Amino acid sequence: MLNYIASDTLLKDRVILITGAGDGIGRAAAMDCARLGATVILLGRTLEKLESVSDEIESAGYGQPAIYPLDLRTATDEDYQELADVLKEEFSCLDGLLHNASILGQLTPMSNYESRTWRLVMHVNVTAPFMMTQALLPLLEVSKDASVIFTSSGVGTQGKAYWGAYCVSKFATEGMAQVLAQETENTSKIRVNIINPGATRTSMRAQAFPGEDPALNLTPKEIMPSYQYLLGPDSVGVTGQRFNAQEMQKPPKEEAGIVKAKENMTQ
Ligand SMILES: NC(=O)c1ccc[n+]([C@@H]2O[C@H](COP(=O)([O-])OP(=O)(O)OC[C@H]3O[C@@H](n4cnc5c(N)ncnc54)[C@H](OP(=O)(O)O)[C@@H]3O)[C@@H](O)[C@H]2O)c1
Repeated sequence: MLNYIASDTLLKDRVILITGAGDGIGRAAAMDCARLGATVILLGRTLEKLESVSDEIESAGYGQPAIYPLDLRTATDEDYQELADVLKEEFSCLDGLLHNASILGQLTPMSNYESRTWRLVMHVNVTAPFMMTQALLPLLEVSKDASVIFTSSGVGTQGKAYWGAYCVSKFATEGMAQVLAQETENTSKIRVNIINPGATRTSMRAQAFPGEDPALNLTPKEIMPSYQYLLGPDSVGVTGQRFNAQEMQKPPKEEAGIVKAKENMTQ
């Protein structure tokens, strides 16, 4: 959805948590959400990176962000509950949750894949976002229209040789988003959608394709329109959808009125 144009105040008064906010796409999303008026909660594992994003947001004159260092490899249910308690105390509600942090693991045949790495990838990419979402649902319920975004990949709908646990974790991410979208569709104001960023100039992309010229890929900043659309009020009523961030497309509401998750997820 490269053609969506956000107003400068699209995210005013919204509180948005971004995982993996210290680098790559998460960093760009944090800057962009702050630019559009949101209070952002920067969650990630490397404090220095989070501080650097926070400094950049403040020197640009945007609203003061919150920093929340958390390692998704080791965080427990109690840690996620503590996160929910802190956010409740500070902000009362949560309007956006962008599950962006992921790890790549190994690119190798399954016959060679280390089971320890497999478990780690599945934990960081699937189980941790599940645990976080579960803990934060009560805060999302308080928002007038909360948006949850799960981040998938081109290998999240089509298996690919040598992509191992990363590929499987992205299939699971898509499944998790669909389950939650159906569960919340009629009973809450929470919308749940999936973004496939497409090939984007980040360190994860460079790790996966070391021989590639990075200049061939769009920058994280350039793929922000679909994130803006899904985090802002223009996507109210859109749930259970999958968006390719690098496609030109009309917002679904324009195409077919309010989109119902059930109709779209059975296609
Ligand atoms: N780039 C692409 O071409 C592409 C394509 C398709 C899908 N995606 C998806 O887009 C999302 C962002 O990818 P990216 O390319 O921006 O990746 P990236 O540059 O590697 O950034 C990943 C972020 O996740 C954080 N993270 C990793 N492990 C963590 C942990 N255990 N706890 C907390 N935070 C952790 C990293 O923090 P540290 O820097 O501190 O480690 C970093 O901020 C991922 O879900 C990825 O699968 C990317």
